Amino acid sequence: MSNIQLRDVCKKYLGSNDYSVRNFNLDIQEKEFIVLVGPSGCGKSTTLRMIAGLEDISGGDLLIGGQRVNDVEPKNRGIAMVFQNYALYPHMTVFENMAFGLRRQKVPKNEVKAKVEEAAEILGLSSLLKRKPKELSGGQRQRVALGRAIVRNSSIFLMDEPLSNLDAKLRVQMRAEIIRLHRQLGTTTIYVTHDQTEAMTMATRIVIMRDGEIQQIGTPSEVYRSPENVFVASFIGQPGMNFFEGNIEGNQFIIGSGEAVYPLSKSEQLLLKKHKSKAVILGVRPEDITISAEKTSIKGVVDLIETNGAEMLVHTRLAGQQIVVKCKTDDHLKTGDPIYLSFNENAIHLFDKSTKKRLKSLEVYHGALLTSS
Ligand SMILES: Nc1ncnc2c1ncn2[C@@H]1O[C@H](COP(=O)(O)OP(=O)(O)O)[C@@H](O)[C@H]1O
Ligand SMILES: [Mg+2]
Repeated sequence: MSNIQLRDVCKKYLGSNDYSVRNFNLDIQEKEFIVLVGPSGCGKSTTLRMIAGLEDISGGDLLIGGQRVNDVEPKNRGIAMVFQNYALYPHMTVFENMAFGLRRQKVPKNEVKAKVEEAAEILGLSSLLKRKPKELSGGQRQRVALGRAIVRNSSIFLMDEPLSNLDAKLRVQMRAEIIRLHRQLGTTTIYVTHDQTEAMTMATRIVIMRDGEIQQIGTPSEVYRSPENVFVASFIGQPGMNFFEGNIEGNQFIIGSGEAVYPLSKSEQLLLKKHKSKAVILGVRPEDITISAEKTSIKGVVDLIETNGAEMLVHTRLAGQQIVVKCKTDDHLKTGDPIYLSFNENAIHLFDKSTKKRLKSLEVYHGALLTSS
């Protein structure tokens, strides 16, 4: 049984005035790949280390397989951990590095050999078992570190930014390998990263944290489509969501002090009526804005164009504010050109200006529209 439950888990470091993690609640099912993501210092590593037993839990309960394990020794929690600094023993071969933990546990010699060879096979390290760490590439070293975790037959893997010491290309490659490994072994995994792309591509569910608190838990597409607050909306997605402050007047959202106007759809109007909010923040992702030749109500001027060949990012200004539009590359568009923008239907996000919380999802109101008619 490798399901994990955290109930109001808190952490206050000795001598610290404030909590580093507050009321962390999460139910992790067997075989899930959970990613904790958030800016540096938000409490990801602290949470992971409490699960591993490397930090005391200040409050709340941690259950593994239904048993409360707050006071269980790390080595008896059935967990293997992979760190950013994977610190292999330099004087030992790949085989010895992977076998080290098992040998220390007095596992019989032939069993150690079988386990190491099996893990090496899975990780494509079979031909490298006699090498020393200095004879390996960064990616191979990280694979050995994963191998050390695999041979222990743990039912839970905890990984703390295991790829952040690798260069960009290798990181993408190792990301795919870890996903494949998870599919193959089905080991319940909790993975920590500050990189939202890593989180989005790897996770079955993402936990977004800020200042020691969970902001939202959901699948990658849930947190992308329905961010619960402005923080999540801005953290998830690359480049980030564009935000506009403004006011509702009639059926229109007036951006800034009237420089641009966004006509609200029926469902958006209903939503706002229900909330009686006049001061709202409108969010729209770069990929949900279309540049059109038609003179719609939203006009801008091209400030800057970045392109990777297939796609381009067009930087423009709206109501004095920088925004980014993502679209297919159009070689005709140049800096200084006037452009007209439209926001894709049902792709805007509305947040209360004071609480920064999402106004109840538009999807619900499409349902309400149907039932009331
Ligand atoms: N050993 C420690 N003693 C005191 N404060 C700590 C300790 N480790 C981390 N912290 C604090 O706890 C907060 C969360 O840190 P951490 O869990 O390392 O964040 P993250 O992994 O998300 O970057 C930070 O404010 C950090 O300064
Ligand atoms: Mg950390």
